[in-house]
Amino acid sequence: MKFFIDTADVQEIRAAHALGILDGVTTNPSLVAKTGRPFREVIAEILEICKGPVSVEVVATETEAMLAEAQEISTMGENVVIKLPVTADGLRATKTLSDRGVPVNNTLCFSALQALMSAKAGAAYISPFVGRLDDVAHNGMELIHDIRTIYDNYGYTTEILVASIRHPMHVLESAQIGADVCTIPFGVFDKLIKHPLTDLGLEAFLSDWAQTGESVLSS
Ligand code: G3P
Repeated sequence: MKFFIDTADVQEIRAAHALGILDGVTTNPSLVAKTGRPFREVIAEILEICKGPVSVEVVATETEAMLAEAQEISTMGENVVIKLPVTADGLRATKTLSDRGVPVNNTLCFSALQALMSAKAGAAYISPFVGRLDDVAHNGMELIHDIRTIYDNYGYTTEILVASIRHPMHVLESAQIGADVCTIPFGVFDKLIKHPLTDLGLEAFLSDWAQTGESVLSS
């Protein structure tokens, strides 16, 4: 499974990248706005840190305007992925870009049928928002199951990129279902490796070792 980080904060991206297991980055207009920094400057810095796929979202809502924004975003870097909503306009733009070989991440997906349309349009990634579904008392992870089944039924290669992740269980269940990618907020990234028994066990190992007076290094 690939791990992307869901942020436009370059400090967070640097920290996740330093772990050596970061495969890509997803941004959206809200995340870029949250940085308070100029759009082009932030994206350029992200592209310098991460050589994997970096999703950058358009803000236009009509196909032609989406394509014009996509054209400009594409020039920002070779590893840019164009993020488009799964609206009718977004789908038309997805088909045009995919036919040209431009990778597209279809975002704001809340139904398996949207995911099916997206795959048919040739999107490289579909981003179902599990946390926002949970927020309105729908089971977000059931959507991931449904999309996995549909894609496997027909051999669609669109990657399932689980988004709107709120806690480690979303990541665990995504891996169990066989989602291709999880885009993880920094706060959740940090929690994936934590276990109290690891900390307690390490403390005991070190205290027992200290009794020996030995050193692992010979000099
Ligand atoms: O980047 C899209 C998605 O991950 C947003 O998550 O937490 O705003 O629902 P959230």
